[in-house]
Amino acid sequence: MKRMSEKDDSVVVRGLRDVAAGESKLSYPDPNGSLYYVGYNIDDIIDRTVYEEVAYLLIHKKLPKMQELDKLRTELVSEMKLPNPILKSIKTTPINCLPMDVLRTEVSHLGEYDPERKVFSEPANMRRAVRLIAQVPTIVATLYRSRREEFVPVPKKEFGLVQNFLYMLKGTFPDASAVKVMHRLMTLHVDHGFNASTFAARVTASTNSDMYSAVTSAIGTLKGPLHGGASEKVMEMLDDIYFEDKVEEYIQGLLDDKKKIMGFGHRVYKAQDPRTKHLRGIVEDFCEGFATSYLYDKCKKIEKIVYDRKKIYPNVDFYAAVAMDALGVSKEFFPLIFASSRIVGWVAHILEQYEDAVLLRPSQKYVGELGRLFVPMGLR
Ligand code: CMC
Repeated sequence: MKRMSEKDDSVVVRGLRDVAAGESKLSYPDPNGSLYYVGYNIDDIIDRTVYEEVAYLLIHKKLPKMQELDKLRTELVSEMKLPNPILKSIKTTPINCLPMDVLRTEVSHLGEYDPERKVFSEPANMRRAVRLIAQVPTIVATLYRSRREEFVPVPKKEFGLVQNFLYMLKGTFPDASAVKVMHRLMTLHVDHGFNASTFAARVTASTNSDMYSAVTSAIGTLKGPLHGGASEKVMEMLDDIYFEDKVEEYIQGLLDDKKKIMGFGHRVYKAQDPRTKHLRGIVEDFCEGFATSYLYDKCKKIEKIVYDRKKIYPNVDFYAAVAMDALGVSKEFFPLIFASSRIVGWVAHILEQYEDAVLLRPSQKYVGELGRLFVPMGLR
C-alpha cells in the first residue's frame, strides 16, 4: 500500500498564511501598521468622513459628491424596513438562540423575500448590496429590542443610517456624541482585506451563488472567537478579572497555560493594529462621561503585560469591546455590531468577486492511503 504523501509533492501553506488568493482594490492592511480603504489611509479619513460616505467609497471605489451621498443616505434609510415575515421570525425566535445564529438565519431568510430574486444583473446586485447594508442593522436592532421585550422604533427619514441604528437599538434619540462615536466605530470595522469572513463570502460568490448566501457564509465565519467573536470574549475576560489588582495574576496564568489572550495578535500586522489607537481614543473620550475608566485601566494593564511577555499588540476587538460596552450594548451583541458595519466590506468584495468571475477552488495535499483492500460488510 502507498501513502500518497510519498508521491504528492504539493506544497501546503498552513492556514494560507501570506497566500494572496486574489486581487482587490478595496482595502489594504499594511503589515507595518496602516490600513487603507480604496487608497485612503484610515488615519486621514476617520474624523473627516461619515460611515455612509465610507460605504459609498467601498461599493463605488470613489468618494461621493454631496448629492451622491445624500442619495445613498436616503436609499439606505428607506431600505431599513424588513419584510413582515422576517420581523415576525426575529420577534418569535426562542430566547436561548444565540444572537449571531439568529442574524445568520435571518440574512439567509431575507434572500427568500428579495424583490428581484431572479435577477443577477450588475445593477440588481448593486441594489441588493444597498438593501443588505440597510437591513443587517435593522435585524440586529430588532433582535436586541425584542429580547428585552421593548418596542422597536421605526427608522426616521430625517436621520442617517447610523443615527437610526442607535435610535433603534436604544429606543431614544441618541445624543450627538454617541452618534459620532458610532460613525467612527462602524467606519473602523468596514473592511479588512481578505479576512476569514470576507474570504468565505468571496468563495461562495465565486460559484455565482447569490449575495444572501455569500453574506450568510460570512456571518457564520465572523462568529468564531478567532475572528469577530473575539470582542465578546474580551468582555468576558474583563468581567472575569473583577478587580484591577488581579490583572497580572490572571493574564500570567493564561500565558503560562499557553492560552490565547482574546483581542490580541493578528495574522497580518507585525506592528500595532492601526485601528487600535482610534478605538483607544474613543474609549478615552468615553471615560470622561461614563463609568468606563475602571475598564480602561484594566485594559491598559493587560496591554502592557501581554506586550512585555509576548511582544504582541491588541487587535481591533480589544478596545472595540470597551467602546461598545460604553455605548450600552450587551456583550453577546458585540459581533452583531461588527457585522452591521462589515456588511459593507462583504458586499463590496462580493461585487468585486462577481466581476473577477473565477471559481475559488484550491487543491489539497492528500495524506491518506490509496489502494486499500475493500472488505465486504459481513467480513469486517
Ligand atoms: N495570546 C497569546 N499569544 C498569542 C496570541 C494571543 N492572542 N496571538 C498570537 N499569539 C502568539 C502565539 O501563541 C504564537 O506564539 P509562539 O510563536 O510562541 O507559539 C505567536 O503569537 C504567533 O501566533 P499564531 O497563532 O501563529 O498567529 P496566527 O496568525 O495564526 O493567529 C490570531 C492570529 C488572530 C488567530 C491569534 O492572534 C489569536 O488567536 N488571537 C486571539 C483571538 C482574537 O483576538 N481574534 C481577533 C482577530 S483580529 C480581528 C478579527 O479578525 O476579528
